[in-house]
Amino acid sequence: MEPRKLLSSLFYFSLLSLLSGNQQVVGSAHHRHLFDFRPSKLFVFGDSYADTGNLGRSVGRSWKEPYGITFPGKPAGRFSSGRVLTDYLAKFVGIKTPLTYKLRRVGGEYLSNGMNFAYGGTGVLEITSPLPNMTTQIGFFQQLIKEEVYNSLEIQQSSAAILVLSGNDYSSYLSRNGSVQGFPSFITQVVNQLILNLKRIQGLGLKKIAVTTLQPSGCLPQITVASSFQKCNGTLNSLANYHNLLLKQSVAKLNNETKETTIVIIDLYSAFMTVFTNKSDHLGSTMFENPLKPCCVGISSGYVCGNVDESGTKKYTVCEKPEAAFFWDTVHPTQAGWRSVYSALQANLQ
Ligand SMILES: *[C@@H]1O[C@H](CO)[C@@H](O)[C@H](O)[C@H]1NC(C)=O
Ligand SMILES: *[C@@H]1O[C@H](CO)[C@@H](O)[C@H](O)[C@H]1NC(C)=O
Ligand SMILES: *[C@@H]1O[C@H](CO)[C@@H](O)[C@H](O)[C@H]1NC(C)=O
Ligand SMILES: *[C@@H]1O[C@H](CO)[C@@H](O)[C@H](O)[C@H]1NC(C)=O
Ligand SMILES: *[C@@H]1O[C@H](CO)[C@@H](O)[C@H](O)[C@H]1NC(C)=O
Repeated sequence: MEPRKLLSSLFYFSLLSLLSGNQQVVGSAHHRHLFDFRPSKLFVFGDSYADTGNLGRSVGRSWKEPYGITFPGKPAGRFSSGRVLTDYLAKFVGIKTPLTYKLRRVGGEYLSNGMNFAYGGTGVLEITSPLPNMTTQIGFFQQLIKEEVYNSLEIQQSSAAILVLSGNDYSSYLSRNGSVQGFPSFITQVVNQLILNLKRIQGLGLKKIAVTTLQPSGCLPQITVASSFQKCNGTLNSLANYHNLLLKQSVAKLNNETKETTIVIIDLYSAFMTVFTNKSDHLGSTMFENPLKPCCVGISSGYVCGNVDESGTKKYTVCEKPEAAFFWDTVHPTQAGWRSVYSALQANLQ
C-alpha cells in the first residue's frame, strides 16, 4: 500500500471516530445477561472463531497436529489449542456445546443443544466460496426447520442464535485488491450483509440473537509480527472500529424498529483489549507475559503452525506453555486466550 493513501485514510478514520464520539450506541454493557432468558438451544453461524469441526479434514489445519493439544488432546476441528468461543458462549448460557452441522445425522439427544453451522475460513460475502458463507449456513438451518428436525415452537420459545464474524471478508479483500480507499465502502457492504443475515434469522422466529464485534484486527500476530509482536497496527484497528460502529448503529436501529431488544452485541473488540491491557494481578504483571506473541509458529516466514514437509518433518514450533499464551497461531487465540476473553465478556454482560 502507498504511504500517502494510508495517511489520508488514517486521517479519514480519526475524523470518523471524532464524529461518532458523541453518538449513543447500544452496547452489551446495558444488558444484565447475554439473553434475558435461558435458551436451551444455541444455533451458531460464522467462521473459525466459532467452528468446532465443520470444516473438512482435507482442508482444515484444525484437524492436524498440533491443533487441539490442550483439549481434547488431539486435533478435533477447532482452530485453537483447545476450546473456542462457541464452547465458552455455550457455557455462558448454561448448555453443552452444540453439535456440529457435519454430525447432524447422528440425531436424537445430540441435537438437543442446538447446532453449530460455522465453517472456518468463511465470511458473509461470496468471496470466500466454495466454503459455505453465512447465507448458505442459514440456508442449512432453514432446511432443518423445514424437515422438522427442529420445530418452530422450540425455535421461537427456547432458542438463541449467535453470529460470529472475525474478518475473512476483509483479509480476502486485502489480498485481492488492497485498496485502503475502497475499504470503507467495502466495510459498509459487509455490515449490510450481516444485518440482512440477522433479519433473516429473526424471520425464522428467533427472538434472541447475538452478534460479535470484530476483534482488534491490528493486534493479530500475522500483523504484529512486523513489530516483533510489540505493537498493534492502528490503521487496521481503526478499520475494525469502523465496522463495529456501523454494526452497533445498525443493530440499534433494528432493535428500535422491532420495538424490543432482540439483538445483543457481544463486544469481542473490548474483551480482547481488556485482556491485552489487564494488569490487575497482585504482582502487577499481566496474565499473558506478551499477549501478542503466538504459541505455535512456523520455523521461517514460508511456514505456519501445523505445516510439515513432504517427509512429515514439522516446520513449526509450539511454545512450552500454551496456557500462558493468548494467541495460538497467526490469527486464533489459545484456549487460555478464549477463556480470558470469556471472563472479560462476563464482566461486561452480567
Ligand atoms: C454465498 O454463497 C453462495 C454460494 O456460493 C452464493 O451464491 C451467494 O451469492 C453468497 N452470498 C453472498 C451474500 O455473497
Ligand atoms: C478495488 O478498489 C477500488 C477502490 O480503490 C474499488 O472501486 C473496486 O471496486 C475494488 N475492486 C474489487 C474487486 O473489490
Ligand atoms: C498497518 O497495516 C497496513 C495494512 O496492512 C499496512 O499498510 C501498514 O504499513 C501497517 N502499519 C504499520 C505501522 O505497520
Ligand atoms: C426509534 O424509532 C422511532 C420511530 O418508531 C424514531 O422516532 C426514533 O428516532 C428511533 N430512534 C432511534 C435511536 O433510531
Ligand atoms: C485479569 O488478570 C487476573 C490475574 O492475572 C485474572 O484473575 C482476571 O480474571 C483477569 N481479568 C480479565 C477480565 O481478563
